Amino acid sequence: MKISIASDHAGFEQKQQMVEYLKAQGYEVLDRGPETDERVDYPDYAVKVAMDVSFKHQGTDFGILICGTGIGMSIFANKIVRVRAANVTIPEFAELARAHNDANVLCLSGRFIDFETNTKIVDTFLTTEFEGGRHAARLAKLLPLERTGA
Ligand code: RB5
Repeated sequence: MKISIASDHAGFEQKQQMVEYLKAQGYEVLDRGPETDERVDYPDYAVKVAMDVSFKHQGTDFGILICGTGIGMSIFANKIVRVRAANVTIPEFAELARAHNDANVLCLSGRFIDFETNTKIVDTFLTTEFEGGRHAARLAKLLPLERTGA
């Protein structure tokens, strides 16, 4: 499974740790930056990962974005077609984001959630299957919105 990951300066330290953690778990990782903890604009990184997921760039399956809260990353990632980004702060929501919402981008907080909790969130997200059925029918209602933007 291939994961595209990025952060801003607020999520940089956890992004570096998460890249190593994911590799140790056997995932392929596409690190979209940044390469240092210098101040950057989170939208630039949200869009890189969202585009990887939307177009399955280099076989990307899922995206992970880390900023201060995860909120800014999710707002921008959700502007990209076919992306369903979820800002998750507890493992239970990671499970529901996959099972009910078929989320394909996970947005994490590097400032308010510790790394250990974020690894539990990531583990749950990456190992939970979408349930389909009534949830698929609901998600199908995204399609006309993505076509027309309204
Ligand atoms: C950067 O200071 C901060 O605004 C950003 O990391 C993020 O939390 C935005 O949602």
